[in-house]
Amino acid sequence: MGTEDAVGRLCIAVDGPAAAGKSTVARLLAERLGYRYADTGAMYRALALKALRLGIDLHDPVALEELAATTSIAVESAEGRTLTLLDGRDVSEEIRSPEVSRAVSYVAMVPGVRRQMVRMQRALAAGGGIVMEGRDVGTVVLPGADCKFFLTASPKERTLRRYRELLAKGYQVELAELEAEMTLRDRLDSERTTDPLVPADDAAIVDTTGRKVEEVVEDLLERCRGVSGRH
Ligand code: DC
Repeated sequence: MGTEDAVGRLCIAVDGPAAAGKSTVARLLAERLGYRYADTGAMYRALALKALRLGIDLHDPVALEELAATTSIAVESAEGRTLTLLDGRDVSEEIRSPEVSRAVSYVAMVPGVRRQMVRMQRALAAGGGIVMEGRDVGTVVLPGADCKFFLTASPKERTLRRYRELLAKGYQVELAELEAEMTLRDRLDSERTTDPLVPADDAAIVDTTGRKVEEVVEDLLERCRGVSGRH
């Protein structure tokens, strides 16, 4: 499919809770527009992976902040593939493990960690032509983004999506356990004091429950074309 030349070099924020369809939708949207795609969650996951590998206490904010300051994290997307590099090494697969998923909210709630991540994320977005996905992109990272979307889906559908994803990757998971973990993670992400998961006032809330990915992408593209036309 060709790219949409009609849409200029916009900054597009796609936020929402875990497994609301953000990654798939944001990646396809970037592809359709010929934009870069950046997954900010992957950056927090990479840092969580390093903390686990080094045995750093997840409840020690000073140690985690220091770790962030001495770690290089890069997210790259090229030819439809996205890569996450931790200190120069490809960790794209490892960061999706259940262990990292369980640890990441603790890393992401440390204000000093978030400050450093946000700085890197803003640098990534410089120049526009980017779809950036996360929890606080529209509210904190890029409050001036041209288009903001907040994707949601019912808790049941989100749990099932994540369950199928993990099974497809060969992880053994219990549905009930996963549901409990995702509920906890949603709560930690939404209730943390620094940059909690909330929609920006000017974000379009898009419920993806029961909708086909292509349909959601078309919906977002349509809204971006509208914004582009006003520039
Ligand atoms: O989207 P994800 O599941 O890969 O995100 C992993 C974790 O990182 C999630 O618990 C929330 C956190 N996160 C965040 O706090 N801010 C972001 N911009 C992106 C993710």
